[in-house]
Amino acid sequence: MSERFVPLLDARVRSVALPPSAQIRPALGHIADRLQRPLRDLRISVTDRCNFRCTYCMPKEVFNREHRFLPHSELLSFEEITRLAHVFVAHGVEKIRITGGEPLLRKDVTHLIGMLAELSTPDGGSVDLALTTNASLLRRHAAGLVRAGLKRVTVSLDALDDDVFRRMNDVGFPVADVLDGIDAAAAAGLPVKVNMVVQRGTNEQQILPMARFFKERAHVLRMIEYMDVGTTNGWRLDQVVPASEIVARIDSEMPLEPMEPNYPGEVARRWRYRDGRGEIGVVASVTQAFCRSCTRARLSIDGRLYLCLFASQGHDLRSLLRSGASDAQLSTAIGQIWGARADRYSELRGQAQADASAKVEMSYIGG
Ligand code: GTP
Ligand code: 5AD
Ligand code: SF4
Ligand code: SF4
Repeated sequence: MSERFVPLLDARVRSVALPPSAQIRPALGHIADRLQRPLRDLRISVTDRCNFRCTYCMPKEVFNREHRFLPHSELLSFEEITRLAHVFVAHGVEKIRITGGEPLLRKDVTHLIGMLAELSTPDGGSVDLALTTNASLLRRHAAGLVRAGLKRVTVSLDALDDDVFRRMNDVGFPVADVLDGIDAAAAAGLPVKVNMVVQRGTNEQQILPMARFFKERAHVLRMIEYMDVGTTNGWRLDQVVPASEIVARIDSEMPLEPMEPNYPGEVARRWRYRDGRGEIGVVASVTQAFCRSCTRARLSIDGRLYLCLFASQGHDLRSLLRSGASDAQLSTAIGQIWGARADRYSELRGQAQADASAKVEMSYIGG
């Protein structure tokens, strides 16, 4: 663990009391937080490790040889993850996204996908099971992931220009290998989306080439405003390219029109090409915060429940699990935690109420 991480370690844990039997109601069914937001989306981080060192996510100066990643014994096992996921699904979660770090680095992650794919929603439907990956290992895993029951994949790719991309992933990983992973996923039958984090002065010149390229291949490209996640990436507001500017640049060459969201609370705003051939999305977390419709909870690699991407504290579900809590007790605890939630960091960004001092890193809670 890097030196700057150590003091955060204890502070970021909030213990969860075992609900006494008198309080245990079969708390299944949909729940809403203090801002009336339902819980719909669970993002599960399965490893804090990554073979990339994207400068905006895991800068080399911090995530170096001295950085201590969590030992395996600290991680939730696949059985523990699946048990918690089962309780979340009973509470209304319809979508589970496996993230990291780089999730394909977790040994046998395909097996976990198979376990999660068996979950069903209270009305008997299946869960929308997705994975976010840098695609470096996607060719090797694509067919197995599909067989296990993965429904779709989101690939992070910030540029088509090889020099720009190598500089951004900071390990010299070539664009061609990511594109190869995308092709393998598509050939295996997985719908593919592509996430591009846009940074002023770094890859903004790649907006149009990326849009042209993925329009041609019919993969949805989503351009993300660079965010102040964690405390290590040195984020500055002047490095953010507003989503409105991104849309305007693309629209000037390939005219766009707005589209309805796929579902309430969708993170990306959708735009379709007026020629009827394809769509893009923009994630405007900085310039047009979407906290009012935030339905997402995040489970860290070591079993802490975070209620906001920018949180500094998580709720320790692992201790609860390992102390022998029943499903009903887990369910009650999760219901109470979500019910007390009032997070809206992006809305408050820059104001005194927004505590930016000890935010956890994205590689730990998942993107
Ligand atoms: P779909 O299910 O395909 O719509 O994707 P998603 O909503 O799960 O989006 P995805 O995981 O690809 O997220 C895209 C990007 O949006 C992430 O990489 C984050 O950078 C950002 N993002 C996702 N969720 C949140 C959130 O709750 N708050 C903020 N501020 N940003 C988020
Ligand atoms: N700002 C915006 N997006 C980020 N991601 C990682 N760090 C940041 C950041 N600081 C994106 C990655 C990946 C997803 C999980 O989150 O590119 O697509
Ligand atoms: Fe790894 Fe993704 Fe973070 Fe890049 S953004 S360092 S690929 S986890
Ligand atoms: Fe949700 Fe927090 Fe993101 Fe707002 S900043 S949308 S509350 S995760």
